[in-house]
This record gives sequence, C-alpha cells and structure tokens, in this order.
Amino acid sequence: MKVLVIGSGAREHALVWKIAQSPKVKKIFCAPGNGGISQIAECVAIKAEAIEQLLEFAQAKQIDLTVVGPEVPLSLGIVDIFQAKGLKIFGPSKSASALEASKVFAKNIMKKYKVPTADFAVFTNKEAALKYARNAKRPLVIKADGLCAGKGVFVCSDLAEQEKAIQSIFQDNVFGTAGNTVMIEECLFGQEASMIFISDGDNVCAMASSQDHKRIFDDDKGPNTGGMGAYSPAPVVSEDLFEQIKNEVIIPTIQGMQQEGMPFCGVLYAGIMITDKGPKVLEFNARFGDPETQAILPRLKTDLIDIILCALAGKLDEIELEWDKRCCVCIVAASGGYPGDYVKNRKISGLDKLSQEKDLFVFHAGTIKQGSDFLTAGGRVLGVTGLGKDIRQAIDTAYKGIKQISYDNMVYRKDIGKKALAKISV
Ligand code: AMP
Ligand code: GLY
Repeated sequence: MKVLVIGSGAREHALVWKIAQSPKVKKIFCAPGNGGISQIAECVAIKAEAIEQLLEFAQAKQIDLTVVGPEVPLSLGIVDIFQAKGLKIFGPSKSASALEASKVFAKNIMKKYKVPTADFAVFTNKEAALKYARNAKRPLVIKADGLCAGKGVFVCSDLAEQEKAIQSIFQDNVFGTAGNTVMIEECLFGQEASMIFISDGDNVCAMASSQDHKRIFDDDKGPNTGGMGAYSPAPVVSEDLFEQIKNEVIIPTIQGMQQEGMPFCGVLYAGIMITDKGPKVLEFNARFGDPETQAILPRLKTDLIDIILCALAGKLDEIELEWDKRCCVCIVAASGGYPGDYVKNRKISGLDKLSQEKDLFVFHAGTIKQGSDFLTAGGRVLGVTGLGKDIRQAIDTAYKGIKQISYDNMVYRKDIGKKALAKISV
C-alpha cells in the first residue's frame, strides 16, 4: 500500500513511525512532514490545508490510503472531497468533524444525547455575554466557538478576567470569525484525562487512556499550550471509569451522530474532567491528540493500518487491540517563548546519541533537516518518549533522553508524569 499522512507535528511523526511498521505498507508520503519524518517517509511540500493540491497529489501517486492528522483539513471537508473522487481516507466528514470545529455544535449534541458536560450558555453579542457573566455567582470558562489552535479557551478566576476574555473575543476580534459566537461554561474541577476512541460510525474501539500537560510551566502554571507532555495509561482512569466514559460519553455521542445523519468515522477524542460528580466532557476533538498520540502508539501492538482499514470497512467490532502493558511518557521540548514568540533555525545537538537507545523514541514536531543537521522550526520542537515497566521508569527514561539534547533556548517541563506518580502512591 501507498499511504499519505497529512500534517507536520510530532503526532504525525508518531503516526508515520507506527504505519511504517505495517507489513501492508510499501511507501509513505507525508504532507508537509518535518525533519524527523523525512527520515522514514517522503515529505511533500504541500500544506495540510491545501486540499485541492493534496487531492491532485493523491490521485497522481495513486495513494491507497490517506490518514489525516490535524483538525483544519477535516473541518475544510478533505474527507468528503477525497471520498467523492473514490479515494480511501481516514477521518470524519466535514459535518461530523463539527464535533471539534464548533464547540456549540458539540454541546448541543451532548445536551440532546445526555452526555455529561458542564452547563453552558451561548452568546452572539458582547453585552448579553457580559450581563450573564456579571450575574453568575461561580467561576466561568469563556470559549470561542470555532477552531483557535487550542487558544480559544479562557479559564477565568474572577469577573475581571471574564470581562477581559469577552472583550478580547467580541471587541478585539482576537479569533476572527471563530469568535463570532461565544460559549460561557461552568468551571469544572478535577483531574483531566484524554480518552481516544476509533469509530467506524457505529462500533467503537478504545485506545489506551492518557493525560496531557496543557500549561507551559511546571505545576500547571502559565498559559495553555498545544500540550507539553503526556503519559499513558492515565492511572486516574480506573477500569470502571474507563467503561463509564465509554458507555456514558463515547457510545451516546457516536449513536447521536448516527441519528443526526452524520455518522462519525475516525478518531473521537474526548477531553474529560473527572469531577466528584463523575466524568464530564470538556471538549471533543475529531483527531488524534498531540502529544497524547506519542505516548499511546509506542504501547499499541496491533497494526494501526489494520485498525484503520477495519474502521473504513465498518468492521471495528471484528478487531481486538493488543497493548504493551508498560507505561509511556512523552516530554515535549519547546522553543523558549512558546506559546508566544520564539526564535527558529537553532541547531539541535545530541539527537544522534539517542537513535540507538532501546525504549526511547524522539518524535519531531517543529524541525527541519539541513544537510545532516536538524534545526528548530516551531514552538514545539521534539517529543522525547520513553517506555518503562512502570511510570517511574518511563519518566526516568524520557528525562535521561531529553537531557542529551540541546539547542539555544530549549525549554521543557520538569514535572511530566508527576500526577501519575502521586496517584499510584496513594
Ligand atoms: P478545551 O479546548 O475546551 O478542552 O479547553 C482547553 C483546556 O481548558 C482544557 O483542557 C481544560 O484545562 C480547560 N477547560 C476547558 N473547559 C473547562 C471547564 N468547563 N472547566 C474547567 N476547565 C476547563
Ligand atoms: N493535546 C491536546 C490536543 O491534542 O488537543
């Protein structure tokens, strides 16, 4: 098979790495890819949003299967466009991917199909939103409706912060049209977990649980980022809780989407807050998580291509996934300044020392290859990922690895996995 993977992050590096292990796959292209991906796939200089160009490429190269990493091409309808031309592509349709692309759409589905989530109200003008916030007696979260690359959520501790968030979305237009509609949500408290499932539109199959580290600084301080590290499994998700989330969140959502005439075939990622009243959905994503995928795929023993082909054939009930029981931890190395401004084109040293290490994987995000060197090219640069017999050993492996790598202004969190350690030691 010839496979095309779309995207350029460490998630896509992990996907390409896993897909390359399938005996069914003879050739992998990645558009646009990155420095690390270029070592195992042929990178093609087409952006993930350039749907028509991607289509032309897939047709010209007679691609057998396209796997979409990021949300933007899904929301632009890449799946519908490829399928209309008879091309096999894995991901939800444009209408189904609204579960991620519109927070209001997702909330309405949750409300209709009784999926537990925070209470919410929707606003299309500033005055009404301000009035609601001023009358509320509890902490609130302000969210832009549309896709904002993970930046459209303000968890506010007081009214001043709420007013600032509402002003910046409606008045300063910081998110453009993605902020034309604003959702105000009750603030939930608890631990977060990422629950990723694959669906064929009807059946679901679970990936291992995981936990992200959203904030830039240790101890969950500072602004939200795309994710600074992850581990799998997440001990906070007990077996019972896993079943509860599957039965109360994932299955009703998949069935609801089917009833709405928008069957969801692809990756359904539920960001869950585990509150003292049970699990509640924070958000849905219509794709694999980043960096969660980097901590999940090294544990997956089953061929990912087999899973995807089963999903596309509507036969996910026929596959049983096999997992490595060990734990996996991914630490993200970023460029100083991220998620704000940062410099690029810094030479990365130490990668060669890690290439032969057992149970250690370096997934590239913002890197480019120049001759035999790798240079930084983004906010998140690398994900150093370690497997271990338990979470402590996985943390040690990943930190030992990341300490071998250096570049100007390299930053990473020093506490990835700390919550998992605390959970298993109680
Ligand atoms: P989202 O993109 O909706 O998942 O939001 C990004 C992050 O904001 C989440 O991972 C949470 O850390 C936080 N968040 C979102 N909604 C809420 C909420 N209702 N209560 C508390 N924190 C939230
Ligand atoms: N790690 C969060 C996300 O992929 O949206």
